[in-house]
Amino acid sequence: MTSQAESKLLCETGAGTPMGEFMRQYWLPAGLSSELEADGDPMRLMLLGEKLIAFRDSSGRIGIMDHRCPHRCASFFFGRNEEDGIRCVYHGWKFDVDGNCVDMANVPPHQDFKAKVKAKSYKATERNGLIWVYMGDQTDIPELPDIEANLQPEAEVDFRFVQRRCNWLQALEGDLDTSHLSFLHFGSVGKDALNEESTQRHLLANRAPEFIVQDTDYGTMGAAFRPADEDNTYWRFAHYIFPVWAFSPNWPMDVNILARAWVPMDDEHTMFMEIIRKNVRSAYKAKDGKQLAGAMVMDRLRPNSTDWFGRWRLSDDTENDYGIDRGVQKTGSYTGIDGIHLQDQATTESMGPISDKTWEHLSPTDTLITATRKRIINAVNAYKKDGALPPKSRLAKTVHGVRSGSFTAPKHVTWLDAYEQQMATGAKNKAQAAG
Ligand code: FES
Ligand SMILES: [Fe+2]
Repeated sequence: MTSQAESKLLCETGAGTPMGEFMRQYWLPAGLSSELEADGDPMRLMLLGEKLIAFRDSSGRIGIMDHRCPHRCASFFFGRNEEDGIRCVYHGWKFDVDGNCVDMANVPPHQDFKAKVKAKSYKATERNGLIWVYMGDQTDIPELPDIEANLQPEAEVDFRFVQRRCNWLQALEGDLDTSHLSFLHFGSVGKDALNEESTQRHLLANRAPEFIVQDTDYGTMGAAFRPADEDNTYWRFAHYIFPVWAFSPNWPMDVNILARAWVPMDDEHTMFMEIIRKNVRSAYKAKDGKQLAGAMVMDRLRPNSTDWFGRWRLSDDTENDYGIDRGVQKTGSYTGIDGIHLQDQATTESMGPISDKTWEHLSPTDTLITATRKRIINAVNAYKKDGALPPKSRLAKTVHGVRSGSFTAPKHVTWLDAYEQQMATGAKNKAQAAG
């Protein structure tokens, strides 16, 4: 069981908290490159409980800094983004993306002390359409992790951001708790609804999988398994990657170039970020080619606002009980809630802003959740004690090629061999397609 003290350690991410300091030792995804235009409007960005401003300067560089001007704390949100810097509108002080004060406009030249003033800025960079930020020690910046989905050209992937109103951990754990698919998402779908060639039909035929897990250099990995037929096993592999990533087995592993991050905005709001190679994600289709009930994949979003919590909000939320249709729940989908992500949103938000983990009764199907909590708690405590991070966890190559997904393999093959063989097949297919 997870104690109240352990829950607090896992869930609190503000500056100065053990988990918050641990998370700040890794690059975090912050937004889309397309959200910021050169000399465009500064954007409010809430990350790990810090109110930040993001902007793109005239030269195209990204600046991410505390929203408070270091003069008298007026917000840079109202600032003028002009000529390679952001100028506070209160007294005209101007700062570049590195936080250097480049103009102290209201101070006479002989009293100017701009060389002594810095805005609190964080290193930001971009790769293939994604903005990354590093909020830890600015003199010890690690490499960007080699996450496969973010190594693909921007034109070949789809990005998806959706805000969730609950703590990051309970949101992320939905990606590790893969047995819920057969209920929450497909509970009303019969075992013969999917085509013969769809390996996903196995999760409809057998809704009570076993799990196997282990620690990895980057976090944890685990697989749900059940018999596919007399001679084969159906595997669904998932990974947790420090500090906010979950790779879930949504699609067959040979095509599943997918990464999902659950970035705390504060302890009760989380920004979900997904990168997925185009054409992998499609509606689960029934034999007759129709979409399965409740399996709508696209998100219905409200227009973004400039509020701290104004980006990427779903149209359906707690106010309308996520649009639940009780009639559909009786005769159509398992939930009566329309959309896979919305179903996840409703259930994880319904746990409360920060779920009470002493209330839980975790089962063998939650083994990857249990192992991941333990892995994080141990890593955070070790960091708190002597500043040591899990060995290799900040190296780019540690996550190179890590992939989640489902497949079938002969039942005598061990789980790790099955994973390696499937990865090798995927690589071979990719090489053939390229060659
Ligand atoms: S508060 Fe920003 S310049 Fe004075
Ligand atoms: Fe789900």
